[in-house]
Amino acid sequence: MLSHIFNFFRVNKNLAIDLGTSNVLIYDTRKRKTVLDEPSVIVRDKKTHEIIAVGKEAREMIGKNPISLEVIKPLKEGVISDLDAARDMLYAFLKKVYGVSPFKPDIMICVPIEVTTVERRALFESIVGAKKTYLIEEGRAAIIGSGVDISLPSGRMVIDIGGGSTDIAVISLNEIVVSNSIRVAGNTLDSDIVKYVKENLNLVIGDRTAEKIKKNLASAILLDEKENLSMKIKGRNSLTNIPEEMEISSNEVREAIIHSIDKILESTKDVLSKCPPEIATDILDNGIILTGGGAFIKNLDKYISDKCKVPVNRAAKPLESVVVGAGLAFDNKSLLKTLLMREN
Ligand SMILES: Nc1ncnc2c1ncn2[C@@H]1O[C@H](COP(=O)(O)OP(=O)(O)OP(=O)(O)O)[C@@H](O)[C@H]1O
Ligand SMILES: [Mg+2]
Repeated sequence: MLSHIFNFFRVNKNLAIDLGTSNVLIYDTRKRKTVLDEPSVIVRDKKTHEIIAVGKEAREMIGKNPISLEVIKPLKEGVISDLDAARDMLYAFLKKVYGVSPFKPDIMICVPIEVTTVERRALFESIVGAKKTYLIEEGRAAIIGSGVDISLPSGRMVIDIGGGSTDIAVISLNEIVVSNSIRVAGNTLDSDIVKYVKENLNLVIGDRTAEKIKKNLASAILLDEKENLSMKIKGRNSLTNIPEEMEISSNEVREAIIHSIDKILESTKDVLSKCPPEIATDILDNGIILTGGGAFIKNLDKYISDKCKVPVNRAAKPLESVVVGAGLAFDNKSLLKTLLMREN
């Protein structure tokens, strides 16, 4: 009971928010854990704008909603595309975790490395009721979240493959030395699969089926016969318009996505080529950290490592490393000063 009262009156709780294209995560520094992990989706009544559902519940409604309701994904390619919806969604998530509590937390919000001023401002505007607002680049947060002390004079590199963007960054002494951000990521791979299945199997499938195929089968390297698994997929035959079931294999999925994977690879090579020599040596020693949901693609670590001749290690928790790192940034006082954007 006492601790309950203490919690209520203690207002200096800090939150880190990773407002991603696919998922929203909230990390509570007092609890030292991720308190929310939900898909970035909101369902609103078209007329009244009343929020009908958010997160997992809203995602279940995609493609099945009556016309009076709109299903919105407020982020595209790593940035906010619908500010009102983003604000409503975030508010609903905070309410879900904390109720309508009177506390005004300090909030650390994650941004892709290369965003325009307008996109940055939109992220800012999506935050309501914060005492202090900090902005941290996702690449920087991902490295901290992988347990690395970025204040050391040692070059560290991360590739964060999310749903909407891939952020690649090299950091030393708290600062970003070289970076690259491309809008080729998990959603691109889903579209690649939709296109491949239509063109090669004459089957029309939706993005969610494509995502399932990716999660089950995608591999960055060609697999031999034993490892080349397949799965059954349902869709609509594009010639007869009749629903049909077919099979697709890992190697077919690889053919569908390799072109996009190679864009990520090229971007990685580009960053490596721009590193000052001393930092390049550090990266050879430390390896590259692979994170974000895309890090789960089978053999992607091996593929990048083989092509770049640098060790690649998948983060322990690829979906969480950005938000955890953003939360841990509250402990890095010299870094924190430089991240502060607004104080109310
Ligand atoms: N097991 C898996 N295999 C392949 N891809 C996966 C797997 N699990 C998740 N993903 C993909 O990871 C992506 C989501 O990753 P993440 O949550 O890091 O993105 P995000 O932070 O929301 O997006 P962004 O950083 O681009 O705004 C989705 O495209 C999802 O399909
Ligand atoms: Mg992300």
